[in-house]
Amino acid sequence: MSLFVQQSEFADPIPFEFVERAEPHAGPGEVRVRVSAAGLNPVDWKIAISPAMAEMFGVSLPNAGFGNDFSGVVDEVGEGVEGFAVGDRVFGGLRGFAVAEHIVLPVSDGGENPVHTPDGLDDVRAAALEVAGHTADAVVAATALGKGDTVLIGGAAGGVGVLAVQLALAAGATVIATASESNHEFLRELGAVPTTYGNGLVDRVRALAPQGVDAAIDLQGTETVEAAIELGVSPARIAAIAAHELPDGVIATGGRNATAGSLERIAQGLADGSFVLPIAATFPVAQLADAVALQRGGHVRGKVVVTL
Ligand SMILES: NC(=O)c1ccc[n+]([C@@H]2O[C@H](COP(=O)([O-])OP(=O)(O)OC[C@H]3O[C@@H](n4cnc5c(N)ncnc54)[C@H](OP(=O)(O)O)[C@@H]3O)[C@@H](O)[C@H]2O)c1
Repeated sequence: MSLFVQQSEFADPIPFEFVERAEPHAGPGEVRVRVSAAGLNPVDWKIAISPAMAEMFGVSLPNAGFGNDFSGVVDEVGEGVEGFAVGDRVFGGLRGFAVAEHIVLPVSDGGENPVHTPDGLDDVRAAALEVAGHTADAVVAATALGKGDTVLIGGAAGGVGVLAVQLALAAGATVIATASESNHEFLRELGAVPTTYGNGLVDRVRALAPQGVDAAIDLQGTETVEAAIELGVSPARIAAIAAHELPDGVIATGGRNATAGSLERIAQGLADGSFVLPIAATFPVAQLADAVALQRGGHVRGKVVVTL
């Protein structure tokens, strides 16, 4: 038998049910993973409490699970699968099913899911990469950052933000990063110039970047988008991932637009120490509700991860 966190309805508080189910098995073209860790994202709880969000992301009753990001070890390989063997360490995403002892997923053609976990990267960090890594890569690609650019990144200390800041710096950009003051020293250590979000943002950025701002990335609504427009940034170099409506020309993007090989590159950067990914907290799966509550509070630095 195998532990599976199930939902019989999409509701708030989230009605998690911890059930023992028969072990699933890998069919042709699939691998089974013994999950060791599952990273949380805001979209997980948004899906869990909203039938409309669940439908939008293809998560359906009666057998809905919870979570997306996972890491673990391949323990069954289906017919026809190449490139994966029992015992391989992997990480990736499986929408609506990651918080389970065993998951089965198709091996994608492009080799993007699952991805082999490089030596030197622990399962907790690997479990936090699929959504945040893809999305951080997508926003940096959308804004075409390069040497000489100054970019304003709003919401820079969260799961997507910490990776986006580092990818932007690696691309050669100067990064002005918004966060609460408690995160400023951390962002400074990464190499960014921190400032607070909220009233007066435009003036603070003008003072920090008298040379001007070339691009902007908004990871939390539209405050950064609006500030960037006021600062004269071209909408074609402003990207956002969490806004309902955007001014004309601003790029709405997300993990789906990540460039090929992005997860592998980020994982390798974490393994060799050129990138860091803070883990705000880990929780045993029995405390999933506490883990989700912390994530949902909206002020974690980096990621929250559940272990199985
Ligand atoms: N479109 C996509 O594909 C996609 C993919 C991933 C995420 N998203 C969405 O993007 C958003 C961010 O995702 P995430 O995983 O990075 O979330 P997260 O890890 O929960 O973000 C937490 C961070 O948000 C910051 N924050 C809170 N309120 C803020 C505000 N008013 N202005 C600026 N920053 C603020 C906090 O900073 P302080 O603690 O410093 O205050 C904290 O570090 C979520 O809404 C998520 O659903 C979209």
